[in-house]
Amino acid sequence: MADNKSPIGIFDSGVGGLTVASAVKQLLPLESIVYFGDTAHLPYGDKSPEAILYYSKRITDFLLGHDCKVILAACNTVSATIWDELCRYTVSNAIPVNVIDPVVSSISQQYPGSSFGIIGTKNTISSGAYPEKIQRLIPGAKVSSMATPLLAPMIEEGFVDDDVSNAIIRTYLSDDRLKGTETLILGCTHYPIIRNQIIKYFDYKVNVVDSAMIVASHLRGILESKKLISNSPGNEDRFFVSDYTDYFGQIAEKFFKKQIVLKRVDLWR
Ligand code: DGL
Repeated sequence: MADNKSPIGIFDSGVGGLTVASAVKQLLPLESIVYFGDTAHLPYGDKSPEAILYYSKRITDFLLGHDCKVILAACNTVSATIWDELCRYTVSNAIPVNVIDPVVSSISQQYPGSSFGIIGTKNTISSGAYPEKIQRLIPGAKVSSMATPLLAPMIEEGFVDDDVSNAIIRTYLSDDRLKGTETLILGCTHYPIIRNQIIKYFDYKVNVVDSAMIVASHLRGILESKKLISNSPGNEDRFFVSDYTDYFGQIAEKFFKKQIVLKRVDLWR
């Protein structure tokens, strides 16, 4: 049975969840992390819910096999499409945490009268999860959302802070659907990696919200309330991928500021 010494399991289709994992590490430095990037199957943003559920269940089994006390789906696509099924699957073995509910709760307190724009994968946007949850907390809120499916693969390929990514970001963000946005929610955990480019596009005039710190602080609250906080340094963090990619190791080292040993595991054999 997991206890306060057990690691926190975090997964995403690729590097995006590292944005959340590194915030967790900053806020909870004594916790150890087991991270799984499903690089063999990314992007999740245009896969069927059945496929996403199938991948997520295997990854959850893997993380539970590492005795994780929390299964943190650091992926909006998972959080928006198959969350209830995954919770039923995880329940009683570990605490399931998603990345959408903490963000919606935070923005409803911080920016209650704002006009919201949301960008994310095709699946996240077509699920309608964000507008529905925002309007539940802020009835009548103005919410406009738009899929930006090229952004996650672009980031996975390392196109960041360059002309290619600036051109793609400009093309998406100039869309009429985002006109009048006062608070832009980065509804994909990959997007904080291009956060500065997005902020600059809007000339620093739009609040840009991402899930990393919000989710990390939500997680800290859960661990505190359940007395599951680690009070001494745990094992080394471990990083697994389903396929090696050029960029994963580089970005993981950038986020964690240390050498990362990446292990490839095939959960689908
Ligand atoms: N980082 C993910 C998300 O938050 C997944 C992106 C993808 O694989 O399409 O939605």
